[in-house]
Amino acid sequence: MDIQSCVNIKKEWDIVGARQLGRDIARKIGFGTVDQARIATAISELARNIYLYAGTGKICFEPIEDMNQKGITIIAMDDGPGIKELSLVMEDGFSTSGGLGAGLPGVKRLMDDFNIFSEYGKGTEIKVVKWLR
Ligand SMILES: Nc1ncnc2c1ncn2[C@@H]1O[C@H](COP(=O)(O)OP(=O)(O)OP(=O)(O)O)[C@@H](O)[C@H]1O
Ligand SMILES: [Mg+2]
Repeated sequence: MDIQSCVNIKKEWDIVGARQLGRDIARKIGFGTVDQARIATAISELARNIYLYAGTGKICFEPIEDMNQKGITIIAMDDGPGIKELSLVMEDGFSTSGGLGAGLPGVKRLMDDFNIFSEYGKGTEIKVVKWLR
């Protein structure tokens, strides 16, 4: 189970599909139900942002199974408009859509590693990792 699997995000229902596949992979890696829920919530937020702001994109999952550590990598990518206010989006309450602006700060809190790459006009890639301990 060391191959990447991806879910295309095109319609709202795909958010649910991504969430379910991610939770399934997390459970197989050995995450408990609380961490499974955290991971599923993070996936929902990332997928919802793709759906809302980029229109389409994908969420990919990659189990990490080394000798001494296990975890899951989740990559959300799209070729949407990118994020203009990159320095502001990690602050609670920043939203360009009248949302709560809690999505990305929430994902960062739920996961262990968080990296965001976005070029305005080209797209966004957000890579997060949760380690099993
Ligand atoms: N994939 C993306 N492409 C373009 N812009 C994005 C993307 N994801 C997030 N953003 C921008 O970052 C802002 C902050 O995102 P975040 O998820 O934290 O809050 P929100 O979606 O506005 O509100 P909430 O998630 O709380 O409903 C968004 O308002 C949007 O402007
Ligand atoms: Mg959001």
